[in-house]
Amino acid sequence: MSSPEEAATPRGEAGSPDALLIRRAMAEASPVADKVTSYFYALLFVRHPDLRSLFPAAMDTQRDRLLRALLTAAEHIDNKDVLVDYLQNLGRGHRKYGTRAEHYPAVGECLIGALSKYAAGVWNAEMEAAWVRAYTTISQVMIDAAAADELRAPAWWYAEIVTHDLRTPDVAVVTVRPDQPYPFLAGQYTSVETPWWPRIWRHYSFASAPRSDGLLSFHVKAVPAGWVSNALVHRARPGDIIRLGPPAGSMTVDHTTDSGLLCLGGGTGIAPIKALVEDVAEHGDRRPVEVFYGARTDHDLYDIDTMLRLQQSHPWLSVRAIIDQQANQQLPDAIRAYGPWNEFDAYLSGPPGMIRSSVDALRDIGIPSNRIRHDSVEELVAAGS
Ligand SMILES: Cc1cc2nc3c(=O)[nH]c(=O)nc-3n(C[C@H](O)[C@H](O)[C@H](O)COP(=O)(O)OP(=O)(O)OC[C@H]3O[C@@H](n4cnc5c(N)ncnc54)[C@H](O)[C@@H]3O)c2cc1C
Ligand code: HEM
Repeated sequence: MSSPEEAATPRGEAGSPDALLIRRAMAEASPVADKVTSYFYALLFVRHPDLRSLFPAAMDTQRDRLLRALLTAAEHIDNKDVLVDYLQNLGRGHRKYGTRAEHYPAVGECLIGALSKYAAGVWNAEMEAAWVRAYTTISQVMIDAAAADELRAPAWWYAEIVTHDLRTPDVAVVTVRPDQPYPFLAGQYTSVETPWWPRIWRHYSFASAPRSDGLLSFHVKAVPAGWVSNALVHRARPGDIIRLGPPAGSMTVDHTTDSGLLCLGGGTGIAPIKALVEDVAEHGDRRPVEVFYGARTDHDLYDIDTMLRLQQSHPWLSVRAIIDQQANQQLPDAIRAYGPWNEFDAYLSGPPGMIRSSVDALRDIGIPSNRIRHDSVEELVAAGS
């Protein structure tokens, strides 16, 4: 394997001078990021109309993700380890959009076109060269990862909904049968496209460890005005076909150690936590697993029965419900109230606010960052900052 250094640093160059030039351009363009995004897509679709059909018909509120990721990756061009993992994953994930190697120069050219317009005050040939180098490095990591993935996995999977169980008025457990074997690890997530919102993909965590029947389950909460979640909760029925992207995420159990697992699941965040518990059970380890299941009200604890049943069968497992509106206690309070946790690795899943406050609480009580696992689409930003 080539070292991350070789993979992400332009040949024979230290990354730092480039990183400085890149950050100078970003400082200029960031305050008008919305304009940069609009102009970038306008350039892309006017100059390369054939690429329009790869993107959703309505470019939604998340349309800034591509540009934001590009800018963040460029900004962290010196942070090789984090960057390469992130970009390889991103490159593999781009196969489901129909992205091909020959599309990358078009995106790069429009990125630089948009930046040179909105960072005009500081833009010069040296800066442009730094961006070209960074973009070339970034895109090559993505292209190589996609090419390697092509040899061993489809770009996407079709999956038929086999059961749809409405657990609360806004949470459904959706179970699907993929058209081909779908390898993944407990604690990971996938991306889902529904027939009602073509080319709009959202992430959902696997709600169980890999099963012998090959079925996959997700817990989906319909969020107010949410496109994909409402379709999955209120519209999807058995027989409907969805598409799945590749598995992703690093919130998986480290079976090389026997430290305990401190698991915090907020709302549907309990789904991957349940998968982790099943994974530990299947490995036959007797590691302590302490689950804190957080919800606003007891009605929101839609999967507490399953978790309590697991607790009954496994003496090493303890499950505690933390109900915000009952005891006025949230997951970070629970972490502080119980413990000590120095022999534990922490696994966090739930809404972004819950992850942030729980990570803060864990760091406050002295758990080092490398023992805290969680996933979010802002993974690179979080790791790089
Ligand atoms: C790694 C990862 C794993 C995830 N796993 C799951 C899972 O297992 N189950 C699950 O249900 N979701 C999960 N999500 C969230 C999921 O990917 C979607 O973001 C969510 O379903 C909303 O998508 P949407 O298309 O319905 O809403 P959008 O159309 O994207 O959003 C519509 C509006 O709702 C707002 N909004 C978005 N999310 C929320 C929210 N949570 N609460 C209130 N308002 C919101 C948006 O700001 C926007 O204004 C996960 C996200 C990540 C990053
Ligand atoms: C270095 C180059 C690129 C980076 C860093 C990048 C990054 C991203 C990111 C972070 C997303 C958000 C969703 C996800 O995580 O998958 C995204 C979405 C997408 N990207 Fe890229 N991308 C790059 C190049 C390309 C290219 C060359 C194409 C092909 C034209 C492309 C097409 C798309 C499409 C179609 C989407 C989905 C659009 C949406 O959800 O709104 N990307 N990209």
